[in-house]
Amino acid sequence: MNLRRLESVDIGGKRVAIRVDFNVPMSGKRIDNDQRIRACVPTINQCLNRRAEVVLLSHLGRPKGRLNPDLSLDPVASHLSKLLDQPVDLVSERTDFLDSGSTATVRPRRVSLLENLRFEAGEEQNDPELARDLASIGDVYVMDAFGTAHRAHASTFGAIEFSAIACAGPLLLEEVNSIRRVMDSPKRPLVAVVGGAKISGKLEVLIRLAELADCILVGGGMANTFLLAQGYPTGKSIVEPDLAETAKSIANATDVPLPSDLMTCKSVEQSSNATLKLLHEVCNDDVIVDIGPSTAREFAMRLRDAGTILWNGPMGVFELDQFGEGTRIVAEAIANSNAYTLGGGGDTISALERNGLRSKIDYVSTGGGAFLNLVEGRKLPSLAALERHFSEHPQV
Ligand code: 3PG
Repeated sequence: MNLRRLESVDIGGKRVAIRVDFNVPMSGKRIDNDQRIRACVPTINQCLNRRAEVVLLSHLGRPKGRLNPDLSLDPVASHLSKLLDQPVDLVSERTDFLDSGSTATVRPRRVSLLENLRFEAGEEQNDPELARDLASIGDVYVMDAFGTAHRAHASTFGAIEFSAIACAGPLLLEEVNSIRRVMDSPKRPLVAVVGGAKISGKLEVLIRLAELADCILVGGGMANTFLLAQGYPTGKSIVEPDLAETAKSIANATDVPLPSDLMTCKSVEQSSNATLKLLHEVCNDDVIVDIGPSTAREFAMRLRDAGTILWNGPMGVFELDQFGEGTRIVAEAIANSNAYTLGGGGDTISALERNGLRSKIDYVSTGGGAFLNLVEGRKLPSLAALERHFSEHPQV
């Protein structure tokens, strides 16, 4: 990748705008998981240590171009302030920065966070006027929001094109390099563990993995379509009959061991109990909620011999303890294996944290969709924009 790096840009005494991904899971005003915020701290500190003023740009949720106080970045600013041990000002209007763009007004080592970018419709539409404004907030535009690098929005694409100096941040580079290294030259066997609700959400990933992986362990709702393709009953579970043929061709292309037993319930509720069933025992009114214990043991055995493990998505409704055993056993097998282990996606991180295993995974990506896009082998729009900017403006 031919990209300008933050380290190679003179930022001393300048204002640096950094696009970060602070789109963190929240319950009301409480941050449920701050991994994405923590991951940006080294980038921010690097800029502060080099005497720059830092203006952070991020989205939160999907307010669809309308101001929504529930999606304010205010709690993020407070949390970041604690992590950095210095004030972080939340600024509601980008115009506050635009009238004072010259180096004369720079306030070295100050940190501000601009309010949720998606309160403006122009962000997701990549509106040129907004992109131009974002590009002129700072003297340098740093793209470090790996989690949003698959979106061609004003702050992740347009602003890079309009910037005088644009560069890639350290988190973005670390993420891209770590994931590409695994995908380009994995130590074999490469075992992919793919779970989550539906095949349709991860179709491209499964097709790519069918070519690359030596084995794919499927769990969660998406395993149901593989079961349906083999003629097994799936009851009231999520299933995608239109993709049964695709599931068959994925299973023909590589080794996809199907679950041999399952946990079911009649309705997914806090109070429901899980019932163990063999594949042919699933009734019309059953919902499949987890892999069964024999399947979990079989999956764990496959993982023991892996050279590389790529994990995205839980094996069932792991948020409820009674349906989380399959995910726990698979997560432990991944964490305890000697393979190089790479995980990504919000649910995957939650499942690791719930089981106290996060620190035992070699690389945990902050990306969800961006992680999957890279696994698919797609070019991320932000990276394309950074490469083009660098080739057109090699000297700054
Ligand atoms: C993510 O959480 O995957 C990123 O922040 C992108 O969010 P989006 O899917 O709402 O564009």
